[in-house]
Amino acid sequence: IESRHRLRGGWQMAPYACQRRTPLLHSNQPLTEALETLAEEAGFSGSEGRSLAFTRAASVLKALPGRLSTLEELGPLPGIGEHSRRVIQDVLEDGVCAEVERVKLSERYQTMKLFTKIFGVGVRTASRWYQEGLRTLVDLQERGTKLTRQQQAGLRHYDDLNTPVERGEAESISRAVQGAVQRCLPGTSVTLAGGFRRGKPHGHDVDLLLTHPEAGREAGLLSRVVSWLDSQDLILYQHSQENSYALQEGPEPPGGRDVMDRFERCFSIFRLEVQGGPGAARGWKAVRVDLVVAPISQFPFALLGWTGSRHFERELRRFASHERKMVLNSHALYDSRRVWQLWAYVGTWG
Ligand code: CTP
Ligand code: MN
Ligand code: MN
Ligand code: MN
Repeated sequence: IESRHRLRGGWQMAPYACQRRTPLLHSNQPLTEALETLAEEAGFSGSEGRSLAFTRAASVLKALPGRLSTLEELGPLPGIGEHSRRVIQDVLEDGVCAEVERVKLSERYQTMKLFTKIFGVGVRTASRWYQEGLRTLVDLQERGTKLTRQQQAGLRHYDDLNTPVERGEAESISRAVQGAVQRCLPGTSVTLAGGFRRGKPHGHDVDLLLTHPEAGREAGLLSRVVSWLDSQDLILYQHSQENSYALQEGPEPPGGRDVMDRFERCFSIFRLEVQGGPGAARGWKAVRVDLVVAPISQFPFALLGWTGSRHFERELRRFASHERKMVLNSHALYDSRRVWQLWAYVGTWG
């Protein structure tokens, strides 16, 4: 896009994160860490807008070509609000920001972090538990807190699931799934998506996208694959969700962005044999795995949508809608104006 914002020293910055090169390793780590802590804390308080503002500011800093040494270098760069500027200034001047340090030490932040790291526990549940006076994982067990089957599995494998997954482990799981699909439906491809596809050396889970080159052949595949993996004792937990695309009444209205896609999927915990690392003594480690099945016609959009990052996807969709009047999701890209015309036309049929 044409309207790049010029920074002092000749730096330029495109307005959407999806237009910027955002390397994994960048020069402003202490600043982005501070801002992302505040983004996380805002998310814990249900302030999505505030959280997004801090995430945006961090994203801008990640794209800077060098280390920021004074606030002035940023110039009047949009995307970084008053509050974020104050945080940046504090960290630049003192090495830390008092507000961030306060957050990190607060009982609420620490408890929310502890609870939301349980597989199956979101901000709402964690917040309710905090309100009820729960503070530790032991509290959950001792007070007989009602847990879903997913949360029970999450708690049982808490330490493993919060140990980063290494790339080698992701590849080994990918091969196991590859083996399973070749048995169930030869020709099916398995693609490693998520953070690993972005080149991250480790992640919190393994995201695998399945598709078959012949349209329709993928129907029923997931349950067969999961059953086979299960029969090989590779699965510690799983719950699947059916494809809900067929149920869809029409395309999403342009404003109402759908975060969740409608592919058939399986949220699971794998039992991965390991030689070293934390699970070495018992010889295996629990790893979170997401399996997603996309029909070949939607595969490019599914792959794009499942590669992330979350912020990159959000920005890509915002760019499509604001700059191109198009709708992008994990299923398709289309011209929103034409869809509305079509809807108006169908509407006249009564
Ligand atoms: N995603 C999605 N729908 C979900 C969950 C995830 O579309 N219900 C997409 C997200 O947009 C994200 C990607 O799948 O871009 C991967 O999500 P996730 O595994 O949560 O994050 P990663 O970027 O892979 O980070 P990590 O390494 O921590 O797993
Ligand atoms: Mn992931
Ligand atoms: Mn890391
Ligand atoms: Mn995932």
